Amino acid sequence: MVSEGAPYCADTRALEAMRPGVAMLSAAHRYQDSITVKHQDRTAELAVAIGVRLGLSPSRTEVLRLAAIVHDIGKIGVPADILRKPGTLSEPEYAIVKTHCAIGHDVLQHLQAPFPVAEITLQHHERLDGSGYPRGLSGESILLEARILCVADVFDAMTSNRSYRAGFPADFVLGELQAMGGRLLDADAVDACRHYILTEPIVRPDTFDSVTASQSVG
Ligand SMILES: [Fe+2]
Repeated sequence: MVSEGAPYCADTRALEAMRPGVAMLSAAHRYQDSITVKHQDRTAELAVAIGVRLGLSPSRTEVLRLAAIVHDIGKIGVPADILRKPGTLSEPEYAIVKTHCAIGHDVLQHLQAPFPVAEITLQHHERLDGSGYPRGLSGESILLEARILCVADVFDAMTSNRSYRAGFPADFVLGELQAMGGRLLDADAVDACRHYILTEPIVRPDTFDSVTASQSVG
């Protein structure tokens, strides 16, 4: 299923060496924003399931899992009153939220990993048609792992409760993802997501997030 060659060789020892650093970041982040950390953990579970179904190697799947666990770590640099704001963000506020990708990259690059955990995180809001951020990448110039993470992220963001609405039902969100497949989201990753959700239903915890689905921050 995976059509692209592995862009790196993630050896087992390098992966194991990285786990404590990622776990430490996640643990620290949990004290500041447990809602986002729970979102990251659920997103990682779904991203791994998608990656496995698409035929990612075990090492690439583990890199994807590590990136997913901390993909929103950059939100530590976004003021809490913006992250927690009920309702729609203003354009300037949304511009600030968008900086979380670059902040996350800036933090994660210090892990000095020999595989693209920081880059996957940087790219998780890119869209196939180039309408995403921060760089407006398109198509296969977006790492496959980032395309997978993006699908898992959007699914979890849309099915999670917000401060002003309940999460959308999974079957509705799967329909939305299919509508975005091939245009905004990787169609194979959407199909794999659909398969996993329909065969392994996830119980949605009663959590709240302050950003609108249309802003799709995840
Ligand atoms: Fe994000």
